[in-house]
Amino acid sequence: MVGLIHKLLFDLIEEMAGKEKVLEVKRKAGVDEDKAFRMDEVYDDDEWQRLFSATCDVLDVTQDEAETVFAEFFYKDSTKRWPMWFSMSKTAREFLQRQPKIHNGFATGVRDQKAGQAINDKFEIEHVEDGITVHYRSPNQLCGLYMALARCLMKHYGDEAAIEETKCLKQGDSECEIRIRWAA
Ligand code: HEM
Repeated sequence: MVGLIHKLLFDLIEEMAGKEKVLEVKRKAGVDEDKAFRMDEVYDDDEWQRLFSATCDVLDVTQDEAETVFAEFFYKDSTKRWPMWFSMSKTAREFLQRQPKIHNGFATGVRDQKAGQAINDKFEIEHVEDGITVHYRSPNQLCGLYMALARCLMKHYGDEAAIEETKCLKQGDSECEIRIRWAA
């Protein structure tokens, strides 16, 4: 996972509960308190999972709740950090169609080829007449984050779609399959 995501998670914990809780999360996850995460560097997905799970424990929230709060935080940060992606797309559908490409752009900037490929492999989109079907495969199992971010985009652009998860890694499926359908 790219260090930008860690940075945002630590910022969120600090905003919600204070600096000491960030250190507590790191300790619980077995991460050195002084370890700095560079925004453009790729870090081990196992370590990310320990940090995210420790965050849920320390803030006393479920994974679903943590993903929803993190999505709001991530969305707000993205509108400021990358306004171009938001002005480039005129609808949530357009943005969601572009999302794998946006992510893969990060992979091309990564020096380690294997780490770059791991980012590339996480999302695949199938285009259907009335929407998209997302195939998400990642050891991080953040389908809740995906769906919460998709809802943020719908609010942002003022369009509405039905979101349904038809397969889930957390239920033992080989991928998460998320169907997003816009009314005609
Ligand atoms: C300006 C827009 C966005 C940028 C620049 C961006 C960037 C990133 C980056 C750099 C990562 C870390 C990838 C990795 O290290 O594997 C990430 C993760 C993720 N993003 Fe985005 N993102 C954006 C929008 C979105 C949107 C709109 C969605 C969903 C609708 C989304 C869903 C996710 C998910 C689910 C992950 C976790 C992937 C995993 O590790 O399993 N992102 N994003």
